[in-house]
Amino acid sequence: MTHRILVLPGDGIGPEIVAEAVRILELLRAEFGLAVEIEEGKVGGAAYEAAGSPLPEETLRLARAADAVLLGAVGGPRWEGLARELRPERGLLGLRAELGLFANLRPALLYPQLAAASSLRPEIVAGLDLMIVRELTGGIYFGTPRGVRDEGGVRTAYNTMVYSEAEIERIGRVAFETARRRSGRLCSVDKANVLEVSELWREVLTALAAEFPDVTLSHLYVDNAAMQLVRAPKQFDVIVTGNLFGDILSDQAAMLTGSIGMLPSASLDAHGKGMYEPIHGSAPDIAGRGTANPLATILSVAMLLRHSLGEEEAAARVERAVGAALDQGLRTPDIAAPGTRAAGTREMGAAVAAALRAQAR
Ligand code: IPM
Ligand code: MG
Repeated sequence: MTHRILVLPGDGIGPEIVAEAVRILELLRAEFGLAVEIEEGKVGGAAYEAAGSPLPEETLRLARAADAVLLGAVGGPRWEGLARELRPERGLLGLRAELGLFANLRPALLYPQLAAASSLRPEIVAGLDLMIVRELTGGIYFGTPRGVRDEGGVRTAYNTMVYSEAEIERIGRVAFETARRRSGRLCSVDKANVLEVSELWREVLTALAAEFPDVTLSHLYVDNAAMQLVRAPKQFDVIVTGNLFGDILSDQAAMLTGSIGMLPSASLDAHGKGMYEPIHGSAPDIAGRGTANPLATILSVAMLLRHSLGEEEAAARVERAVGAALDQGLRTPDIAAPGTRAAGTREMGAAVAAALRAQAR
């Protein structure tokens, strides 16, 4: 059976980093017999330019037909002035919603080779390996009513943070199962001291815990969780939280590992279909320069192989190849020590490819 993969490079550094990830997929096909068919589509600002919409019907059709989607990044200053519905971010949010990708897995793993790149002391982050499970199709990102109203010349803007029991239970199950496969520790993050939606969140998670006696559930308020993440991040194994808190905490967790340029993500539906993307953005400031770190996107390919294609061996090969490129001392500017020579996007991608190819012999 041939797996169909839709590649959506998007904007900014998206095309540069995705090119390196595609190179890895093609290598797996040529040298390791991976049965994949790769198609390309447009999303975000690139799609707006080409088709007048950040999520054209054609892209949605291709995404629905694919077994998995690999996405670069969307957004840039060029499109910031557009009406909200036309902005690149709507393309990404639309894909998540239309494909029902409610479970967002964001691993924060510190490569031992990069311990010195973290802004925290090496002893605080050494060995860090945590997983954030973020709810991705609900909460304040999608809640209604939302909008801006005019009250006698004074504008008031509003959004709604909303979760149903069913939504909470669904993401809760993914989190408990993830924790079960790891160390058996799950921390749920909310703001139950202030928000009703968080009170319900906590109640549902607590009830679910009865079904997972092998998992230890704890709860933290989000402000405390943010503090604990920089104070003692290794106390965490799996964190489960809502859309907004997960957005914030995952950037923070990423930085513990040295660079947001290292972290992949998976966004999954209820049947194993997924979209895979680096958690960093389109980085317009460095777009087109060939200096972006392609490793988060390459590691997203590994997650794609594992979660949507069931190709665990290929996934592990890709992860080993990334480790080998780091062992050789290659560093893009975001992870390079001050005063050392930095590698470019293509050079890093080529090093991972070479390390992968070496595994074929
Ligand atoms: C992320 C991003 C997106 C989000 C933006 C680009 C809409 O920050 O994937 O974390 O907020 O979810
Ligand atoms: Mg984010």
